[in-house]
Amino acid sequence: MKRILGIIASPRRLGNCEILVKEISRQVPEPHALDLIRLPEFRINTCKACYTCLFAEMRCPQPDDLNTIIEALVRADALIVAAPTYFLGAHSVLKRLLDRGLSFYGSADRIWGKPAVGVTVAGIEHREGYAKLNVDSFLKLILAEIKGSEIFFGALPGEVFLNEDNKQKAAGLGAALFGNSAWPGQPCCNLCGGDSFRFIGPGRVKCLLCGNPGSVTMEDGKTVFQINSADHEMVLSQEAARVHLEWLRSMKDRFIQNRKALKQITVQYLKDGTWIRPT
Ligand SMILES: Cc1cc2nc3c(=O)[nH]c(=O)nc-3n(C[C@H](O)[C@H](O)[C@H](O)COP(=O)(O)O)c2cc1C
Repeated sequence: MKRILGIIASPRRLGNCEILVKEISRQVPEPHALDLIRLPEFRINTCKACYTCLFAEMRCPQPDDLNTIIEALVRADALIVAAPTYFLGAHSVLKRLLDRGLSFYGSADRIWGKPAVGVTVAGIEHREGYAKLNVDSFLKLILAEIKGSEIFFGALPGEVFLNEDNKQKAAGLGAALFGNSAWPGQPCCNLCGGDSFRFIGPGRVKCLLCGNPGSVTMEDGKTVFQINSADHEMVLSQEAARVHLEWLRSMKDRFIQNRKALKQITVQYLKDGTWIRPT
């Protein structure tokens, strides 16, 4: 039987994220078991930028719960990732996990390419900020096959389902998970399906999900993005991600070669300021 992993980035039990994940699972027509992770219950340390996980055993040396999560990702056939909006972004626990993402390379072949849907919950309409971009970025950076991603509004626990339309939206995501994709919505990046952009010049934009630049025009009253793949791709293919891994590994030699010059730059700032330390 297939296993779906629901990752819930909310601390609130039976909150909107949790019931949405469970409702989406109920709406998946294929028989499956649902495994659940409530991320705030897990000890996820901050990445220390040591890059140990890129070499040899490709494991993070920190003694926390990261490997339990990686094992759950490996075991899963499909993912439902849900995060609440906290101050315009997704709950930081999702980013904290993603910040450890270099450790995912060690299991890349067993994590990449799984079908997934994203759920972003916000309490107030139009106050979701960049939270959906956080959820989509998480899915893209683990090279999931995103089958749908939706924003739901509701503040109180359970409030999302006071609105029947949200049941329909959840059903759509459930049907899409192993079925026909409900992603991307329109208008969106033609390369990755992202729907967040930064203006970088007249008519020029950059997709914030895949990082590629391009143009935005109006055609027959519709917004059309023409985004082109630039150098140093990371999320559009497994090959691109592997090239990125090799580039990261090559940083070690670059660092050794440039160590003296880099030290000369940084050491000049050594004595500035007074550090306030945690008590
Ligand atoms: C600290 C905090 C910050 C929040 N910030 C936002 C926000 O910026 N925008 C918004 O629309 N909702 C915000 N909310 C509301 C939550 O996104 C909302 O209650 C959501 O339903 C929580 O999902 P949950 O029930 O799964 O925990 C915030 C809630 C908390 C606790």
